[in-house]
Amino acid sequence: LNYDATTIPDGYNKARDHGPEFLELWMNTLDAWMAGLHVRDILDLGCGTGRFSQALAARFKARVIGFDPSTKMLSQARDRRSEATVYANATAESLPLHADSVDVVFLSMVFHHFTDRARAAAECHRVLRKGGRVFLRTASSDRISSYPYVPFFPTSRSVLEQRLPSIAVQSEVFQSAGLDRIATTLVVQQIAENYAAYADKLAAGGDSVLASLAPAEFAAGLRSLREAEVGMSAAVVEPIDLLIFEKRA
Ligand SMILES: C[S@@+](CC[C@H](N)C(=O)[O-])C[C@H]1O[C@@H](n2cnc3c(N)ncnc32)[C@H](O)[C@@H]1O
Repeated sequence: LNYDATTIPDGYNKARDHGPEFLELWMNTLDAWMAGLHVRDILDLGCGTGRFSQALAARFKARVIGFDPSTKMLSQARDRRSEATVYANATAESLPLHADSVDVVFLSMVFHHFTDRARAAAECHRVLRKGGRVFLRTASSDRISSYPYVPFFPTSRSVLEQRLPSIAVQSEVFQSAGLDRIATTLVVQQIAENYAAYADKLAAGGDSVLASLAPAEFAAGLRSLREAEVGMSAAVVEPIDLLIFEKRA
C-alpha cells in the first residue's frame, strides 16, 4: 500500500498513539527477549511515524535507523526525532544497508504490506549481524475474531481475511530466509480506556483496512461502536502476535 496516496498518515498518530504505558509494555516485552544480545544498532523497518523508534533508542541505548517508503509518514517521524534516530525512504525489499550491520530488526504492522515477502525476509537476514534478532510485531489471520473492531465493521472481516497471512505463513517466510524462530508469543495491549475513546481513535482514519471500507459502512460502524459504548465501559484491548527470529551465530 502506498500510504502517500492515502489520507492515513494524517490521522495515524491520533489513531495509534496509545500512551506511555503501551510503549512501556512493548519495550519490556522486547527487553525480555534481548538477553545475551549487545544492542548497538536497531533497524525499525516500516517505521511509519516512528511511534516505536524513539522508545527503542531510549530503552536500548541504541542507534535506530527508521526506513519507510512513505514521505508523509517519515516527515512526522522526523518531527519528533532525537539524535539517536535517523530516518530514510526505503522499502523492506531493498535495504540501503551493508551486510551484518544491525543487531535487531524491528517490524511493526508491516508484513502484510510487503510486495515481495521472500526478498524482504532475505534482506533482514542479510543486514543482521550473526546472533542478531528479528522482532515481528504483526497482525495475523489467526486473530481476526479477537480484533475488537471487527464486530462493529462486519465487512472488515473479509478484507482482513484477504490481507492478513497466518502466523504459520509469516513464520515460514523468515525461516525460509535462513532465520531460526526462537519464540512466538501473544501480547495483549490496551488501545483505549473505553469504547467512546476507541471510536474517536478509529474516526481519525489511521487504519488501512477500515480506510478501504465504503464511507457509509465506516460511518455506520462508528455509530454502532458509540452506541455500544453505553454497555461496554471497560478498556479496549487487542491481542498482537510477536514472532522472534535469530540469525545463527
Ligand atoms: C501500519 S503502518 C506501521 C508503521 C509503524 N511500524 C507502526 O507500527 O506504527 C505500515 C507502514 O508500512 C510501510 N510500508 C508499506 N510498504 C512497505 C514496504 N514494502 N517496506 C517497508 N515499509 C512499508 C507504510 O508506508 C507504513 O508506514
